Amino acid sequence: MKPTTIIDCDPGHDDVMAILLGGRTTDLRGITTVHGNASLAQTTRNARQVVEFAGLTHVPIAEGMPQPLVRVAQHAPYVHGESGLDGPTLAPPTVPLHPSHAVDFLLEQSTSLSELVLLPIGPLTNIAIALKRDPGFASRVKQISLMGGSLTFGNVTPAAEFNLWCDPEAAHVVFTSGIPIKMIGLNVTHQVLATEPYRKRVRAIGSTTATHVADMLDFYSARETAYTGLAGGSMHDPLAVAALIDPTILTFEPMHVAVEIHGRDTAGMTLCDGRHLGPDFRALKPRTRGEAPNAEVAVAVDAGRFWELFLDVLATYP
Ligand code: BDR
Ligand code: CA
Repeated sequence: MKPTTIIDCDPGHDDVMAILLGGRTTDLRGITTVHGNASLAQTTRNARQVVEFAGLTHVPIAEGMPQPLVRVAQHAPYVHGESGLDGPTLAPPTVPLHPSHAVDFLLEQSTSLSELVLLPIGPLTNIAIALKRDPGFASRVKQISLMGGSLTFGNVTPAAEFNLWCDPEAAHVVFTSGIPIKMIGLNVTHQVLATEPYRKRVRAIGSTTATHVADMLDFYSARETAYTGLAGGSMHDPLAVAALIDPTILTFEPMHVAVEIHGRDTAGMTLCDGRHLGPDFRALKPRTRGEAPNAEVAVAVDAGRFWELFLDVLATYP
């Protein structure tokens, strides 16, 4: 049976890949939008355009928070362009928005759906507010599989990954919520790249959806290569979906993850306690002061396996 999901996102090129993957491989009950890669108005517009060209207009879209809990909203036009989704030429959206605010939508859906899994792939503001608004929300969410953080270095700063850096306080609320969390961070997503051979395979599918995706990946890869030096755009967000549906793609280890909210240079950093991983270390210096694991942290990825899944799913779209 397909997992029942809601994608909380800030599209964003790689967010689109996640929506397409989740739209087929999960029982996708909604898309909630948040500030992030671009302004909220723009990320919501982008989400509406995606469901239209992909034939996913049965999936409701609820608009969420325009800014973080405490900090000033930050966007990433240097990666995703001014629209947040530069590259393809897309028709103006006509599909209506769901009437509820994203936070209300999340709370409503959590009461009516059993075994709800959240797929947050942008700043965690909507999820944090839902948790604060209704203390029962956490117990009604089966699992979170999120793209964010890093076991190694960041992208926006040496320490922090973009989604968590945008709203560290919200991320802290989510990581201390008690909901079982899978954390898919830069340490694995930077290993799954839209290199030219894969971009050619996407374009070769030939459908409208695949052509839009190929145009997106060309733009996004050029920017990511210029910004990071990597050989193509990182498939960050769809890996949070892949983690849920194919256990062979990512390998996880349980760790305690603390989100840094005070540091001048480290805000948004995920401090992952992996001290239990090495048997030698454990023998020499047991974890005496650590806290119990609150997340499964992705430590390894099979990039080829991800791409075969993604290309197979993409070929099913019109
Ligand atoms: C994350 O930040 C955004 O730019 C991407 O969509 C992804 O969710 C990667 O750091
Ligand atoms: Ca995103």
